[in-house]
Amino acid sequence: MSRGSAGVAGPIERVGVVGCGLMGSGIAEVAARSGLDVVVQEPTGDLLATGRARIEKSLARAVEREKLTSAERDRALERLRFATELGELRDREIVIEAIVEDADAKREVFSALDRICMASTIFASNTSSLPITDLAAATSRADRFVGFHFFNPVPVMTLVEVVRTVATSPETVARVFALAERMGKVAIAAKDQSGFVVNLLLVPYLLDAVRQLERGAAGVRDIDLGMTLGCGHPMGPLTLCDFVGIDTLYRISEIMYGEYREERYAPPPLLKRLVAMGRLGRKSGRGFYDWQAPEPLPLEL
Ligand code: CAA
Ligand code: NAD
Repeated sequence: MSRGSAGVAGPIERVGVVGCGLMGSGIAEVAARSGLDVVVQEPTGDLLATGRARIEKSLARAVEREKLTSAERDRALERLRFATELGELRDREIVIEAIVEDADAKREVFSALDRICMASTIFASNTSSLPITDLAAATSRADRFVGFHFFNPVPVMTLVEVVRTVATSPETVARVFALAERMGKVAIAAKDQSGFVVNLLLVPYLLDAVRQLERGAAGVRDIDLGMTLGCGHPMGPLTLCDFVGIDTLYRISEIMYGEYREERYAPPPLLKRLVAMGRLGRKSGRGFYDWQAPEPLPLEL
């Protein structure tokens, strides 16, 4: 493993993304569509093929909806390289990690990248709920480490949270803000606390909807209609749980509860049962809804 020389700081052109799931695929797609050179990594060829198919499907959808021409799609695909080895990220100016919401798995990846990447490479985590300081501590570059929290679906949601720790350098923050702008996002600055700005508000709301269902206050369809038709939300909270992924929401809830010890962050038992049954939401075909039905079908739970 080699460590390259520190480059001159400037606008970021070479981006690495670790993990090509729901979020990593969206981040890689948006970066490539913004003209950046992208390498995206998954640990096996099969996982990589699934991630690649997700990006191709999303690009095809953008062409279909006339947001992108076929030539722009082809150029975006040319800017994307798919890799199974972390070593392929060695020349990246920033590496954005988007693997499972698990502190040990993330620390292991960052510790390996710390040995592989150039000294100047910025490390960023897309974590929803883990304190950034705890991840930065697994590396020797806390001054070049930020939270870079995108929202799902990445090609549609404009916000990104940029999280600085007490150790993050102002130059790193400025370069990441500039990258966010280049990717067509609006960045807000967030303090390094579990849940940052948005999830501190959103997660208790989603968990309350699950608790309401557990208590039998209403069914899946009616809870969701309550918030779409009653409050003008684009989707109901249980649909949103299925979009985020029940496994991911469960992990986020455990992490936030572990951090704050406040009941509003505690994982409702129903979430745990759904994970045990492999009902992970839209990505697995079933969660609070059956997503394989012709129209999303609310399930009896
Ligand atoms: N990828 C790319 N584009 C997509 C997409 C996807 N997965 N899903 C929808 N779109 C695009 C569509 O192409 C469409 O574009 P046009 O209007 O230009 O044609 C537009 O989004 C609207 O899509 P639809 O008409 O199909 O559906 P919709 O009107 O129901 O909108 C939605 C879908 C944008 C997802 C909307 O329901 C919404 O905003 N939902 C809330 C999403 C949200 O809250 N996200 C945050 C999740 S929490 C999080 O991310 C943080 C965390 O750490 C967990
Ligand atoms: P996901 O389960 O869809 O994808 C995770 C991907 O990481 C999988 O493809 C998996 O194969 C891969 N992976 C696992 N271990 C790996 C490793 N060691 N090296 C490389 N790849 C590995 O999850 P997701 O929804 O994309 O979430 C990813 C991250 O983004 C999490 O930290 C999550 O909290 C955060 N996030 C999720 C959402 C959301 O709505 N789902 C929104 C914002 C942030």
